[in-house]
Amino acid sequence: MNKLRKDFLWGGATAANQFEGAYNIDGKGLTINDVELGASHGQTRQILDPIINSKYYPSHEAVDFYHHYKEDIKLMAEMGFKSFRMSISWARIFPNGDDAIPNEAGLEFYDKVFDELRKYKIEPVVTLHHFELPLNLVKKYGAWRSRKLVDLAVRYAKLVMNRYKNKVKYWMTFNEINSLFISDQPWHMAGIIYKKGENKADTMLQAAHHQLLASALTVIEGKKINPNFKIGCMLLYPCTYAATCRPEDQICARNKLLSTYYFGDVQVRGRYTNTCTSYINQIQGTFKTEPGDDAILAAGVVDFIGFSYYFSAIEGIEKIDQAEGNLSTGGRNPYLKLTDWGWQTDPIGLRNSLNALYDRYQKPLFIVENGLGAKDKINSDGTINDDYRISYLRDHIKAMIDAVDIDNVDLIGYETWGPIDLISAGTGEMRKRYGFIYVDRNDNGQGSFKRIPKASFYWYKQVIASNGNRL
Ligand code: BG6
Repeated sequence: MNKLRKDFLWGGATAANQFEGAYNIDGKGLTINDVELGASHGQTRQILDPIINSKYYPSHEAVDFYHHYKEDIKLMAEMGFKSFRMSISWARIFPNGDDAIPNEAGLEFYDKVFDELRKYKIEPVVTLHHFELPLNLVKKYGAWRSRKLVDLAVRYAKLVMNRYKNKVKYWMTFNEINSLFISDQPWHMAGIIYKKGENKADTMLQAAHHQLLASALTVIEGKKINPNFKIGCMLLYPCTYAATCRPEDQICARNKLLSTYYFGDVQVRGRYTNTCTSYINQIQGTFKTEPGDDAILAAGVVDFIGFSYYFSAIEGIEKIDQAEGNLSTGGRNPYLKLTDWGWQTDPIGLRNSLNALYDRYQKPLFIVENGLGAKDKINSDGTINDDYRISYLRDHIKAMIDAVDIDNVDLIGYETWGPIDLISAGTGEMRKRYGFIYVDRNDNGQGSFKRIPKASFYWYKQVIASNGNRL
């Protein structure tokens, strides 16, 4: 018997813009995602605004959870899900982000989803900002460059936290908040495409400060609404090893983590630490603060640390071949295999990540994304044998259990990314599938949206039923 909690939150995770579709239904406004075209492996997604009707924009219909939520939640319940991570689309609630009155139809949609989840005793875990922003806020204010976004984001957070205070207990503020520092063009993270001549370091730090303030204020306000709320941060954890035992390589590996701990430190410790100032010095940037900001950051610390883990990388002072990744990339490790999308598979890296985060912060951890993006094939009898996915997940879950059993890490739950196939954030592709449930939809936006359980569906069901004892 492993030592996982009895109430361990097994489940899966999604994001509104990759999953819901219905981009202009029931009063929803346009988001930054709705003007993005699909791409394929190795290409960057193009922003095409205004929308051209003859083009395929993956978020517009995504996999249509909006109209399939009952069927989808039933399937999750059949697998025995204890939790389901999803995001609220800000533009469903405030179509322009700064409207005087919220959109009741949008609020009702999430009421129905949470009620359906509750019906099956599935705990919703809600991300307030998952790589999404009402497009109007980009045009009107310059997105997260502007401090105005702090007030607007907190207003949105207060509204939904009030509305769902008896339906949702677990909240997360910003998805992979540290990816703002990792991405060259943080469109998904902050609605920002750097302008020619713009001081990138300053903009990045300023936008980060605004998001960190919004996150802290959300925690403060959330606790007033319901003191039992559990509110977490969400980090992309770029597990990094020194390329060799050369001491300089160890420094390189440490430096790689600075931009992640920058956010973790502020959200967990409530202040800009020496790690943050080293990073600021490294990138030679500055940002503005206002009196009272320090007190807000100190008061708005999170209850738990949610994080995503997909792969690891290496760093060193000599030139190293590069592997691929979603946002974070890094050096190629000869000991590890690559997925079809060039990501390095490293289950033990998950254990290492859990240890690194727990050793540093001593706060409960929650794995809110992990999984394998792969192409699936439907057999002539209609079945899908995704053994490769089972094998990836099994190895990662084993390593996770070692972190709990042997290393005594405090872990709340484990959620795989995209339990039902959804569109890729990086490329907008459908063919890159993470799910236990196949969705009939292709990269050109064709398909019936039919849901088909894969072999992994039955495997994960048994994992959950045995609380991770039968892998
Ligand atoms: C994470 C994001 O970075 O990785 C998800 O939080 C994303 O939104 C996931 O989908 C996997 O990346 P991709 O590019 O394969 O969809």
